[in-house]
Amino acid sequence: MSLNEPEQSVGMAEPAAVPLTIPAALAAEGVPTRFACFVTGTDTEIGKTLISSAILHKLVRQGVRACGMKPIAAGAEERDGELHNDDAAMLRAAGNVLLPQSITTPYMLREPCAPHIAAALEGVTIEPVPILTAYAEILGASDATVVEGVGGFCVPFSEDFDSADLAVQLGLPVVLVVGMRLGCINHALLTAEAIIARGLVLAGWVANQVDPDMRFAIDNVAELERRLPAPLLGRVPRLDEPTAAKASTYLELASLPGWPAKRA
Ligand SMILES: Nc1ncnc2c1ncn2[C@@H]1O[C@H](COP(=O)(O)OP(=O)(O)OP(=O)(O)O)[C@@H](O)[C@H]1O
Ligand SMILES: [Mg+2]
Repeated sequence: MSLNEPEQSVGMAEPAAVPLTIPAALAAEGVPTRFACFVTGTDTEIGKTLISSAILHKLVRQGVRACGMKPIAAGAEERDGELHNDDAAMLRAAGNVLLPQSITTPYMLREPCAPHIAAALEGVTIEPVPILTAYAEILGASDATVVEGVGGFCVPFSEDFDSADLAVQLGLPVVLVVGMRLGCINHALLTAEAIIARGLVLAGWVANQVDPDMRFAIDNVAELERRLPAPLLGRVPRLDEPTAAKASTYLELASLPGWPAKRA
């Protein structure tokens, strides 16, 4: 068993295997598939929104009904009577399924700080059920969903709920965005360990050049390729215009579970 295979429970009947990808013959026919992933990162501000939007952009380009979800956003201001958050707005612009913001971001918090603090300031407790209910609505309205996590992988939401728990409850394959800067190898390996320890599939990782002056960036990517038990989905350089479209040109996502086949 590879490190990245979810653990089997001992002494229990194994559930029937569910294929993660559609058979090649069906894929060739362009049969629609359902794709979903959870995008986490080695830290806050390392490109999760950019890469989530780039994934959505690729899905839309392939003619898929795709919707982004930022379940918890901390840092919102009122504009035209509605709370605005940059991440939520970028994901919305990159997808092509428009749902009410209360669905795509059930917890839209005003204060730009750690989510458990932002929630406490508003007298709110962040709980799984509203997020899972909203996610089910998105699934009903789209064929592909990209869920952006919050900060790094283990950000607390409340006393007994954090972003790793959320990934587990959603049960999604995880895409790890590694912000390429000094220290990222350690952060990436710890994050991968935490993902796999929870029985989740680390489906792939992206090297995102957040520090344009990082020395030996190529060597760092090579070391991570050697050590991370998941494919490198792309290396995104420091972009002059960090748009979803531009970033998407550096990604190759066909290896992700459930990635839709290109229509002829
Ligand atoms: N490859 C890149 N080239 C240029 N700018 C980038 C790149 N990656 C990210 N950025 C910029 O860095 C900032 C942080 O990126 P982004 O918002 O995607 O990070 P994040 O991990 O989603 O942050 P948060 O934890 O706040 O959700 C943004 O201004 C984004 O445009
Ligand atoms: Mg973000």
